[in-house]
Amino acid sequence: MSISNDIRRGVIDHTLDTQTDMALAAAFPAQFLWGAATASYQIEGAIHEGGRGISIWDTFSATPGKTFRGETGAVAADHYHRMPEDVALMAQLGLGAYRFSIAWPRIQPTGTGAVNQQGLDFYDRLVDALLTYGIQPFVTLYHWDLPQALQDQGGWENRDTAQAFADYAEIVAQRLGDRVAGWITHNEPWCAAFLGYGIGVHAPGLKNRQAAIQVGHHLLLSHGLTVPRLRAASKPGTPVGITLNFNPLYPADDRPETQHDLEVADAFSNRWFLDPLYRGSYPDLLFTGMQLNPPEMQEGDMAIIGTPIDFLGVNNYSRTVIRGRDASAPLDSSNIVAPVPGACYTEMGWEIYPQGLTDLLVRLHREYAVPALYVTENGAAFADHWDGQEEIVRDPRRVSYLREHIQAIASALEQGAPLKGYFVWSLIDNFEWAEGYSKRFGIVYIDYASQRRVLKASGKWYADFIAAYKQAHQV
Ligand code: GCO
Repeated sequence: MSISNDIRRGVIDHTLDTQTDMALAAAFPAQFLWGAATASYQIEGAIHEGGRGISIWDTFSATPGKTFRGETGAVAADHYHRMPEDVALMAQLGLGAYRFSIAWPRIQPTGTGAVNQQGLDFYDRLVDALLTYGIQPFVTLYHWDLPQALQDQGGWENRDTAQAFADYAEIVAQRLGDRVAGWITHNEPWCAAFLGYGIGVHAPGLKNRQAAIQVGHHLLLSHGLTVPRLRAASKPGTPVGITLNFNPLYPADDRPETQHDLEVADAFSNRWFLDPLYRGSYPDLLFTGMQLNPPEMQEGDMAIIGTPIDFLGVNNYSRTVIRGRDASAPLDSSNIVAPVPGACYTEMGWEIYPQGLTDLLVRLHREYAVPALYVTENGAAFADHWDGQEEIVRDPRRVSYLREHIQAIASALEQGAPLKGYFVWSLIDNFEWAEGYSKRFGIVYIDYASQRRVLKASGKWYADFIAAYKQAHQV
């Protein structure tokens, strides 16, 4: 077995490979942002504190059978109480930016009407703490914790929720807009719509694919309605964008069936939200491929959705290889995914394929002419182990994953992709939705019993890499 295979499999422990990493760091332009990301429900806990209302994730995770071992975000990483410590940790890592999300039910406990000042105060303190260390706050307004009271009125199936979201976003912007470095309206609306309303593996747990199409439309509409209101309430020039999840697809062979199924899968996985934002229409193949009807729309909706934005946030972890179905096979996406012999997989079962990130960023640049891109999430879950004593958790495979993906984005930059920053998912281990606490994505380990934070080797590597970047650019 070659050394590089050993490294891939995590046999060899290694951190900064000084020469390679110094050269890699120097390859990035000045002003490139190095950050880490989290989301409110995944880290905060304190679900009944500070005047917070109930969200659909509280309800869903408390429903038996919905999450791994019935785990919930009730305590999570206790970030609500440990925020100053966590920000100090970010400073120790040398982060230039932090992407976090706001829990809507902390701001408006029932989704509309009365504003809970304590909720705003919490995020206000967070933003100020970040700025004290020179860390730029990137704020996501919706990372899936919809107030339950709105779900009781149909949630995102109800068009009124789009308007309620724009009102909520404006309230947040009026308070934080003088200091925020970037706004992200939605995180992964594909997941919110399809996983939440289409197949029910995420909150609110509904199983109606046609409803998911309608939900997707209302999420996009809410995004478009929100963009001008964020701009109006923020300091001039504050960039506004949206974050989508992408799954780069590759053909397993050159049969026409494969090409056809790949295009259908691409419409579903990658273009459902991208095309309305950048091309003014849904891809036709989305509806024919899913055998569903287009959403109900009102005149002017597509123009609102297409309101120009300043950047696109890209979440990417893996890729999928597609093998076309025989005409006789049932219409089920699971039988078009081809296994990749010899590939390495993370704990999520996701193939490690850094080239996919390069290809994706280059595609967004060439085919969609996106003016600015941020990788707003990229990272890996591995079965980390802490012995309870050491000051470090050894996660060599995550070190390799990060290095290889940072090499991948360097290559996208070389090919002209207008990439401005990179956020690791995640700063700390956290509540991985239906997977509960069984999957660890952090570059910092959380010992949930004591809530102790322990740096992982990947966190150390990332800190060293950022330091090398700063040294190369004299910042
Ligand atoms: C998502 C979310 C994150 C996840 C991460 C790992 O992509 O589902 O944005 O909240 O935790 O992606 O799955």
